[in-house]
Amino acid sequence: MKNKKIIWVIIAIIVIVAGMAIWGNQSKNNDQASNQEKTVGVLQYVTHPALDEIYKGVQAGLKNKGYTEGENLKIVFQNGQADQSKLQTMSEELINKKSDVLIGIATPAAQSLANATSDIPVVLGAVTDPVGAKLVDNENKPGGNVTGVSDKTPAAGQIDLISKLLPDAKVIGALYSSGEDNSKYEIEQLKKVAIEKGFTVKDYAVPSTNEINSTVSSMVNDVDVIYIPVDNTIASAMQTVVNVANQSKTPIIPSVNTMVEQGGLAAVGIDQYELGVKTGEMAAEILDGKAVKDLPVYSFKTGDIYINEKQAELLGISIPDELKKEAKEIYNN
Ligand code: TRP
Repeated sequence: MKNKKIIWVIIAIIVIVAGMAIWGNQSKNNDQASNQEKTVGVLQYVTHPALDEIYKGVQAGLKNKGYTEGENLKIVFQNGQADQSKLQTMSEELINKKSDVLIGIATPAAQSLANATSDIPVVLGAVTDPVGAKLVDNENKPGGNVTGVSDKTPAAGQIDLISKLLPDAKVIGALYSSGEDNSKYEIEQLKKVAIEKGFTVKDYAVPSTNEINSTVSSMVNDVDVIYIPVDNTIASAMQTVVNVANQSKTPIIPSVNTMVEQGGLAAVGIDQYELGVKTGEMAAEILDGKAVKDLPVYSFKTGDIYINEKQAELLGISIPDELKKEAKEIYNN
């Protein structure tokens, strides 16, 4: 009787110890799985302040969702410096580095990544027109391995801003690069609304940064205001545009906060850092296991107003109080 009791106690102890060992091992395995380092390959098209902000946002977005560099995340970053052949080799390199997810910042970078792989997920970082750029068939239901964030903004807001700030303006000069799909889309949208509201829109498409100086020098004689879409070529040479336009006191209405900070008069646009954050968060969802087909392309509903007060002063333009109140940020440097 006594012996039987002892045997039962021993069996119970064995069962508990074995159970604990198995359970402990399992949770260790789980920890290892979630601690496993993921690799994100980022290809940025070129260096300009807007894209640099987007990349900072991407890192923050990944972190928001639990992916921290050096802990459970490795980011391999490449900058194509607006060179098509570099973009291609870098895309292949990022694929060879066994990236779990690829992020393309700006249209040409995203196009290069999407051309290089049809199975690794590609997240678009601020691509204006993903359908026009042939990156996705349907923004709501991406069919392939590509989805992400678009930075298209409603043109009506931009025209409204021009009417409020420059009530005498009639001729808008659109300055953009002839080679960028993103700019083509934005200019088309702008023209639709501008013409409806009685403006004339003149096109000034440059083949490269080399022609910006001479193009701006001559366009200021024929237009009341310079409009700049989310164009990488112009963004790369924004300082030149501002310097030349200031000589004739021609106002510039760009489409993003960073270009207002650099000397544009005002814009209705999306905060570039926020664009990046959203992109990083979307990449994290894919790392968590979500399928591309279940992640529609994300677009921002409205833009925010940004104003450069110093620039307004220099141009002799007074900013209506109501606009100042609405502004998300007023730059004064
Ligand atoms: N939307 C641009 C593209 O599709 C990239 C971009 C994002 C950009 N933010 C910008 C370009 C600001 C100029 C300025 O390529």
